[in-house]
Amino acid sequence: MSFTPDSALDLLFPAELISLEVKKALHSDLHIRPLASTDYRRGHLPVLSVLTVVSDPGEAAWVQQFHAQRACPRTYYSIVVIDKASDRIVGVGTVLIERKFLRGLGSVGHIEDIAVDKQQQGKKIGLRIIHALTYISELNGCYKTILNCSNDNIPFYEKCGYEKKENEMAKYAPDRSHTPKL
Ligand SMILES: CC(C)(COP(=O)(O)OP(=O)(O)OC[C@H]1O[C@@H](n2cnc3c(N)ncnc32)[C@H](O)[C@@H]1OP(=O)(O)O)[C@@H](O)C(=O)NCCC(=O)NCCS
Repeated sequence: MSFTPDSALDLLFPAELISLEVKKALHSDLHIRPLASTDYRRGHLPVLSVLTVVSDPGEAAWVQQFHAQRACPRTYYSIVVIDKASDRIVGVGTVLIERKFLRGLGSVGHIEDIAVDKQQQGKKIGLRIIHALTYISELNGCYKTILNCSNDNIPFYEKCGYEKKENEMAKYAPDRSHTPKL
């Protein structure tokens, strides 16, 4: 498949929110942009599967999730890195903007689901994704950007300018079917 420019895509959020500095720093074989409604076909889920278990809901359900995210303006920012030669996704990441009542109605950016295709790891793609997401978080006025990670990935996030703070707690629901009861 040949490279699809941003202008031919239905994007999750405006492409202008991608840092120009990050775009300039990215290798010329690659492109960074917001998630597009057709990215299921560019290997979005296979890239995410380097991170954790990913079950494939099928394209229609994937597209429905895309639209559910876009229906929450200025909240979900998922970005992808594309290998131009194949028009396939090689890296993904998301920042979620949380609007708080404290800190004078401040906002916090939560970075989630960072993954780089195994063949493409170690080429600064992860670093570019983190910088692009941090830029979007700060554009939204977030006073901090935070994320959870394994001990193994601490050095990676330190290279991205992050520092270790506090701990993560988790409680997994006993019913793992994920079907909302609301
Ligand atoms: C972690 C991950 C996102 C890093 O992306 P990447 O593109 O391979 O990393 P980069 O090339 O951008 O690395 C940037 C710097 O961090 C270093 N780095 C990356 N991962 C590292 C690790 N696990 N331990 C130590 N250093 C690491 C790199 O060597 C590089 O250092 P340099 O600037 O001195 O050369 C990627 O390896 C990945 O997808 N892993 C599997 C999924 C995962 O763990 N995601 C994170 C969930 S919190």
